[in-house]
Amino acid sequence: MDLGIRGKLALVTASSGGMGRNIAHTLAGEGADVVLFARSGDKLREVCGEIESRHGVRATGVAGSMTEHADIRRLGETLQALGGPDIVVLVSPRPPNPLRETLQENEQTRWDDAYRNQLWSVVEVVNVAVPLMLGRGWGRIVAITSASAKQPMAVHALSTVFRAGVTAYMKGLANELAVRGITVNCVAPALIDTSHRQGAAAYSEAQAARRKSLTPMGRMGTQEELCGVVAFLASRQAGFVTGATIAVDGGMVGSLF
Ligand SMILES: NC(=O)c1ccc[n+]([C@@H]2O[C@H](COP(=O)([O-])OP(=O)(O)OC[C@H]3O[C@@H](n4cnc5c(N)ncnc54)[C@H](OP(=O)(O)O)[C@@H]3O)[C@@H](O)[C@H]2O)c1
Repeated sequence: MDLGIRGKLALVTASSGGMGRNIAHTLAGEGADVVLFARSGDKLREVCGEIESRHGVRATGVAGSMTEHADIRRLGETLQALGGPDIVVLVSPRPPNPLRETLQENEQTRWDDAYRNQLWSVVEVVNVAVPLMLGRGWGRIVAITSASAKQPMAVHALSTVFRAGVTAYMKGLANELAVRGITVNCVAPALIDTSHRQGAAAYSEAQAARRKSLTPMGRMGTQEELCGVVAFLASRQAGFVTGATIAVDGGMVGSLF
């Protein structure tokens, strides 16, 4: 199926590695030019090189932090110079480590960090990207949130609170941007394989086994399964889907909707 995004410009944030990198590859594989944003200039250069040689599209890296206003302003300037984005995929940095029980989340610095990493960063990127999208009658915005916004998970209080905030913000944006032809949706993952992450942040075997037992499918999801849903929401065919959250969690969330 042709997703109708060949030649479009897609911004993917937090994309020098992990999910963001894989999403950028997926959209580039469908013919979109991509702009990648993350802190490490070296990693961005490597990923942009990979994308250009593998998919034959243009890939532009902007080095900066989603928590730095000046960096996001620079990102906006690059987007403007490239003609403005058609597609914006908002991947945000992870919540502070180590994860803690709710009652132990009692330090203001961790709450401040989580707010800036996960909610304010999204608002900042929207502030620079969306004004560049308004005049063209077509656009796609997809935010990666978390299944925990719908079914809070143990030790995920920070992520739950701020991803629920992102979901609410995206819903408001969807309502306002619908008449402009811009759809705004969320993808809410859980249990997606993160074996790309090295060291302490990756799941141990015991943690992975415990996590698999949380889902009816009894396995972790793949990055490809996550990226495919994002690509669908970015596609021409998803034009009548807006204000929605699509779970990619192997059936973990037990609610009807
Ligand atoms: N895996 C799941 O099942 C699941 C479920 C729910 C939610 N999520 C969320 O999905 C998101 C992506 O997960 P992941 O596994 O891909 O994470 P990851 O492997 O930790 O990737 C993080 C990416 O974010 C970039 N980054 C980190 N801090 C940044 C900052 N301040 N500004 C700009 N870029 C920054 C990193 O690049 P630099 O270091 O170069 O900046 C890297 O490219 C996370 O927020 C995670 O919590 C995942």
